[in-house]
Amino acid sequence: MKKLNGTNKINIAVFISGKGSNLKNLIKHSYAYNSKFRISLIITDNSKALGLKFAKKFHIKKKIVNFDNTKLVEKNLVMFLKRNKISLICLAGFMRILSKKFIKNFNGKILNIHPSLLPKYKGLNTHKRAIKNKEKFSGCTVHLVNSKLDSGKIILQKKVKIFKKDTPKSLALRILVQEHALYPKAVKKILANL
Ligand code: GRF
Repeated sequence: MKKLNGTNKINIAVFISGKGSNLKNLIKHSYAYNSKFRISLIITDNSKALGLKFAKKFHIKKKIVNFDNTKLVEKNLVMFLKRNKISLICLAGFMRILSKKFIKNFNGKILNIHPSLLPKYKGLNTHKRAIKNKEKFSGCTVHLVNSKLDSGKIILQKKVKIFKKDTPKSLALRILVQEHALYPKAVKKILANL
């Protein structure tokens, strides 16, 4: 089997807006024996994103992007990502919708993780809505990003039981544990076909 060294690993950019627990988890997996990828860029739209601390901790290049002028910003961002030889983008708690044009530049190469069993509960407040509707299960989904919100091809999903005593917070925490198991698996699956 071909051995991967630091130089021929696949470069991934992770886009975050908040805590970055999925980012941290992907970084951890990138250090695993025989991992085929490295997290080489962290992009955020939020200069106060807590997840930015992982850039310093793990010596990863970061970029804070002000998305106010979306068109120009995205054009520059595409160039920046290409210059940095990014082959895959992982959205992880990134609270922006990317334009069609941006997505076209990385067609089939942008993943997102969403805390529900898509196509159910797209958008925000998934846990609150699932509990309110007395669903027996929720979960998480890793999917390809297309121009419609939370609607691209599903790569992997994991079901999580909803208990009677669950609050949106307790459910979110239990699902997050599964997100951390699911996202690296989905990345591996996509990389196998790149
Ligand atoms: C996760 O629940 C993810 O599914 C959603 O936003 C949350 C991000 O959490 N899209 P973190 O920033 O990775 O901790």
